[in-house]
Amino acid sequence: MIGDGSALRSYEAQKLVQGGFLEISDEDKTFKEHLESFRAELCSRAGMEALDRIAVATYDPETDMLKTFAHATEGDPPLQHYDVRLADVPSLGRLVEEGGTERVMGDLSDLPAWTRHTQALQRDGYRSSYTLPMIYDGELYGFVFFNSRQPGFFSGERLERVRPYVRVVALLAINAMRDARMFRGAARTAIAFSAIRDDETGGHLQRMAHYSRLTALELAERQGLSDEFVELVYQFAPLHDVGKIGVPDRILLKPGPLDADEMAEMRQHVAHGEAMVETMIRELGLHATEQADILRNIVASHHEAWDGSGYLRGLRGEGIPLEGRIVAVADVFDALTSERPYKKAWSIDEAVAFLRSKAGEKFDPECVDALCARMDEARAVRLRFLDSG
Ligand SMILES: [Fe+2]
Ligand SMILES: [Fe+2]
Repeated sequence: MIGDGSALRSYEAQKLVQGGFLEISDEDKTFKEHLESFRAELCSRAGMEALDRIAVATYDPETDMLKTFAHATEGDPPLQHYDVRLADVPSLGRLVEEGGTERVMGDLSDLPAWTRHTQALQRDGYRSSYTLPMIYDGELYGFVFFNSRQPGFFSGERLERVRPYVRVVALLAINAMRDARMFRGAARTAIAFSAIRDDETGGHLQRMAHYSRLTALELAERQGLSDEFVELVYQFAPLHDVGKIGVPDRILLKPGPLDADEMAEMRQHVAHGEAMVETMIRELGLHATEQADILRNIVASHHEAWDGSGYLRGLRGEGIPLEGRIVAVADVFDALTSERPYKKAWSIDEAVAFLRSKAGEKFDPECVDALCARMDEARAVRLRFLDSG
């Protein structure tokens, strides 16, 4: 079972990787591209043609949310940009409690449609499924789902053949997610040691990460962005100001307004952050290109402005990476709606009016519009992560 970390030791899985079945050394591929070539390869084998869907959901232990992450699907995907609390899907929770057992279902049409997940699969004609929790070092990373429109697909000899492949997918997904968790862990450690004490409270980081995710989710639906992108923006948004560690206390903690020289030094937090990210990528050996790029872009471009008046580089419009534009809106929205030593919290309506008034000037209008479209959820985030002080 994967439960004790044996995914990485699984003989069959290693054999597949070593045998070049999967080009996991190709770091330019996104995780979704890996899944797609993996499914295409598998489907080309005799008896495996009806493997219609491979999907990975990621688990966030902090919120108990299970979220769609990546898929390779024959036809339209039944489910995208979807999340659900694990506590609300006891059938999956049970697999985790049992230490990572697999679940094989021969005919989904017999199943009561309790969740949107089941409803969507039934609607799209999926009949059988194989599910495996991804647990490594005692931590749950998510689930792998293999589905077929053929009833009873995962049985007999075929089930034996499928098992090692499911494990390879789990292994790849865990690797991808561990990179993100390592980045986050390293940055949190750095932030904790340096005790950034000004306005960057833990509450701010949590809220702005969720606002970034809501914005990215809305944009994903409108523009067809991947769930992987949404998840990575959420994971890395809290690292936007990691470079403040390099700003001297006399400036970072100064109670009054900053003069021009001090402001210039404060702005250097972006450059310090970029240098830190490069060190993290190098020292942690994190080579997954897309992840590293998203983190880099968030740190480097969260103070750029749509009209080119921002810093450090004065990029403008779509020349600013999308993740930077998303985080810029989320960061300011939280700053406005939170109390700071020098100001009261603005109401949500006041903050929305401000964002709208600066859309097309300071902010990407589509990002502003996307966050505003998710304002009910944003209100819930604000209440959930209220600052204690
Ligand atoms: Fe910043
Ligand atoms: Fe911030």
